[in-house]
Amino acid sequence: MSKSYNIAVIGGDGTGPEVAREGVKVLKTAANQFGFKLNFEEYDYGGDRYLRTNEVLPDNAADELRRHDAIFLGAIGHPDVKPGILEKGILLKLRFELDQYINLRPVKLFPGVETPIKDKGPKEIDYVIVRENTGGIYTGTGGVSMKGTPHEVAVQSMVYNRFQVERCLRYAFDYAQKSGKKARGLSDVNTLGLVGKTNVLTYVFDLWERAFHEIGEADYPEIKRDYYHVDATCMWMVKSPEWFDVLVTTNMFGDIITDLGAMTQGGMGIAAGGNINPEGVSMFEPIGGSAPKYTGQNIINPLAAICAGAMMLKELGETEAGNAIETAVADVTANKLKGLAAGRMGYSTSEVGDLVAGLVA
Ligand code: IPM
Ligand code: MN
Repeated sequence: MSKSYNIAVIGGDGTGPEVAREGVKVLKTAANQFGFKLNFEEYDYGGDRYLRTNEVLPDNAADELRRHDAIFLGAIGHPDVKPGILEKGILLKLRFELDQYINLRPVKLFPGVETPIKDKGPKEIDYVIVRENTGGIYTGTGGVSMKGTPHEVAVQSMVYNRFQVERCLRYAFDYAQKSGKKARGLSDVNTLGLVGKTNVLTYVFDLWERAFHEIGEADYPEIKRDYYHVDATCMWMVKSPEWFDVLVTTNMFGDIITDLGAMTQGGMGIAAGGNINPEGVSMFEPIGGSAPKYTGQNIINPLAAICAGAMMLKELGETEAGNAIETAVADVTANKLKGLAAGRMGYSTSEVGDLVAGLVA
């Protein structure tokens, strides 16, 4: 009997449903081609549902989603809803409740895609950022007092415990071992770089740095260990991206540097990410957001969602099918698209989905 996977689809807001639809189209084709089954079930979580029902997420949402093998997400963020409500109430809530403690974000320049970085190509821009996804400033304690007065105090602290740090680092070391540049035949060593701020945030990054070297020395001696301050990382991501293989960092730093990474790989139209619980249910998404001004025009780029689908298949163990989607995307960027920006691809959203699906079939 062929394998079968239950996938929850949350189209979400703005152009989310349009790009998710193309992702599902390509995923269905890959399933047919590679001999497994995908059962999709749609959920209407997002801004429209919130405006209609005044409920951000039903109480049973996490339990409902937990019944699936993976979650495929379009985008969250609605122009008529105050910033923060949906982001915190849906996206972050699901990451935390489903304990998706890794955010995996490949920074990969596909062939034919224009990068703003002069003289760098697909060979140079090809690394992965492992972002801690359920701790740090995002979940640290905080509060406000004397609000609205000249003496208002606001606190939001970066909190990590050894357990959170260690499981994230172990994932990153494992990832470097399996998928680093040596594993991919691109180098004679797999390298993991820790991105921190040990020169200022001396408590939190002392914890990260000690754990990094202890774990690396004890259990992954063959993996080369590097350390970069986060500000310098931004500099090297632009100046010498070829130095990087796998990087691991905190939630907030990871949030920031992956947007920079996305721009170097051609922008939000192509950048995909996975919110991963290695022992549970993971959620895959284009990292670009809902781009509401393009809603319903069939001009948004669906490649980021399609790449998120490829990541999902690889995480589910359908590696060949995931790779086939990526190869098809590379073919489309190299030989078909005029550009990656919405309305400038030379094709509509659904046509880009058709092109990729046609190459996977
Ligand atoms: C991301 C986004 C989210 C984050 C927002 C929308 C809460 O920027 O996935 O990078 O900060 O993690
Ligand atoms: Mn972000």
